[in-house]
Amino acid sequence: MLSEQMQKALNGQLNAEYYSSYLYLSMAAYFESTNLPGMATWMRIQAQEEEMHAMKFFDFICDRGGRVTLAQIDAPGTEWESPLAVFQAAYAHEQKVTGLINSLVKMARDEGDAATDVFLQWFVTEQIEEEKSADEVVQKLTRIKDAPHLLLMMDNELGARQAGGEQAADAA
Ligand code: FEO
Repeated sequence: MLSEQMQKALNGQLNAEYYSSYLYLSMAAYFESTNLPGMATWMRIQAQEEEMHAMKFFDFICDRGGRVTLAQIDAPGTEWESPLAVFQAAYAHEQKVTGLINSLVKMARDEGDAATDVFLQWFVTEQIEEEKSADEVVQKLTRIKDAPHLLLMMDNELGARQAGGEQAADAA
């Protein structure tokens, strides 16, 4: 059984994962509007993965006899200065999510809630990949930002990302 405090915190993280999905979908819309379909595909897949993360919290709360309560999802930003600014924002967002997951782990340990601690370890590992993939794109875009033809090449490569596959920056 989940404590009240833990149930509330896990519901909060469920909401945060849906916000992440919304944020990446908004970034996909930005890339569609700026004729970078490959980056839009990368962000669409990222948005789908965040929904999967949210549903992991949904299922875990239910499995532990808790109650899922859905709350309003904040509106994400809609405009960015450049593709680099988008991926910098994505990287910063993932760092923030890592902090949220770490706080949940601390709460689980403080409560002696071993089951939640174990559940959260999947997210601890996932956040390493989430930060790495966004940061890799930031590094590459930083290097090529003044070369439009390289930007288009990178758009093609990011568009090769497959749903459920390895992160894209590996292909970029
Ligand atoms: Fe659900 Fe991008 O972390």
